[in-house]
Amino acid sequence: MNVPKAELHCHIEGAAPPSLVRRLARQHDIDVSEIIDGKGKYVWSDFTTFLKAYDVSSSVFKTPSDYALLAETYFRMLAAEGAIYGEITISPDHAQAAGLSYKSYVEGLAAGIERAKTETAIEGRMIAIGVRHFGSASVERVAKEVIATPHPLVTGFGLAGDERSGHPANFSRAFRMAAEAGLGTTAHAGEFGGPDSVIAALEFLRVKRIGHGVRAIEDKELVKRLADEEIVLEVCPGSNVALGVYSHLRFHPVNILRREGVKITLNSDDPPFFGTTLGKEYSSVAKTFNWSFEDQIAVTRTAIEAAFCDAATRNRLLVRLESAVQETSGN
Ligand code: ADE
Ligand code: ZN
Repeated sequence: MNVPKAELHCHIEGAAPPSLVRRLARQHDIDVSEIIDGKGKYVWSDFTTFLKAYDVSSSVFKTPSDYALLAETYFRMLAAEGAIYGEITISPDHAQAAGLSYKSYVEGLAAGIERAKTETAIEGRMIAIGVRHFGSASVERVAKEVIATPHPLVTGFGLAGDERSGHPANFSRAFRMAAEAGLGTTAHAGEFGGPDSVIAALEFLRVKRIGHGVRAIEDKELVKRLADEEIVLEVCPGSNVALGVYSHLRFHPVNILRREGVKITLNSDDPPFFGTTLGKEYSSVAKTFNWSFEDQIAVTRTAIEAAFCDAATRNRLLVRLESAVQETSGN
């Protein structure tokens, strides 16, 4: 039974299969032996070395067609797992470091998304992110560039990177500009930071979606606030276990958050780095916490309702979801 799925949180550079990174590295004469081992697996040991490996693997994507290939590969894979919608976070800073302009980067990715859509009918959108540990000036530069160079598939603005650096107050201007320009906004918080980081993201960035957010569980009042204000958490359980935020999936708070009425979605974050896929996230969570088919559909519905897409697309996706559900229950 293939549950219809939707994803709101996946870093496109972090979704690159090691085999593709190796192939492009050879083509562009870049050494990636320090981040991909003999078995074709990414090498890292903690959040800091993960971020480093992520930077190196991103450096092999140098042309719009490299990025088109990456996006097409990822969206086809998502669709093969039953996804009807996916949002990828894109990092203009990483593209710039590889020598690509923002415009070429986005056009390359959009071409890949369109090709995957033609083949599989999957819908895709992009969320441009600023990298927190590059500082507030860099994040504001990204916001300005995204606003000055609009693209119909870039519908969101976000903040990723090392949550341990820089208070959200430093980024409030960038988020205000993005929101005023009509972009949906989301920020990583409550992954390595505690509940205070989630509260600060709500207060200073005024987001309605939070990347991760799971450590809100440590503050009862905050959990109630998230439920009351219908804040949507982009939960990435496999990522949290891989990075040691929780020692095992059965100790992950996703089930309790859901029971407390918090709107949660399931996501893969940086799938090959963490040995996961969106399909694995749905199936492992369902198995561990005994979620029914209907429970999983509710997660997909939440994701579509919170997606950074236009109303017509949202309605089409909801109709597709309901007809997939009908088909499955009719079987
Ligand atoms: N960039 C890529 N993956 C990330 C994560 N899990 N947290 C913060 N920034 C990231
Ligand atoms: Zn993330």
